[in-house]
Amino acid sequence: MTGRLHRAVCPGSFDPVTNGHLDIIERAARLFDEVVVAVGVNASKSRLFSADERLEMLTRACAPWENVRIDTFTGLLTEFCVEQEIDAIVKGLRAVSDFDYELQMAQMNSHLAPVETVFMPTSPEWSFVASSLVKEVATFGGDVTGLVPEFVREQLVARLAEGGETR
Ligand code: PNS
Repeated sequence: MTGRLHRAVCPGSFDPVTNGHLDIIERAARLFDEVVVAVGVNASKSRLFSADERLEMLTRACAPWENVRIDTFTGLLTEFCVEQEIDAIVKGLRAVSDFDYELQMAQMNSHLAPVETVFMPTSPEWSFVASSLVKEVATFGGDVTGLVPEFVREQLVARLAEGGETR
């Protein structure tokens, strides 16, 4: 394809963003002209951080990359892709266990809209990192230094100290 920009989306809940997410976003930004990091907003799911907080954390963490912008989406990811003229959905795969569900979603998404899914292997140093585990470790007082940006770790510890109420 030539003559126009190639735009990819890195979708997720990002509750909160981890260094594993940032690794995928940075590598996607080297492959595509523009990367949209899309924060899924699902009112029926309770999150530790609000959509605005997740968006702010991503905006700060992705500031070094000029061709990365952050947005939110509700509803179907494919509708967001069509509206934003996105060519590819980039998903990180940590392990084979991620593959089954991600393959199913990729096939459903390509059934719904003309959008490709590109799987990117997670760098080995982040293969065990997941937002859910980071939150669990931090909830029980474990040290998550080095797994998330330092300012995210501080916000996480502060939120949990407030009682970790979901929003
Ligand atoms: O970080 P997560 O929770 O693994 O992200 C999952 C996300 C938000 C990428 C996925 O749930 C999604 O695409 N949700 C949007 C709703 C949608 O399009 N569902 C159909 C998927 S085939």
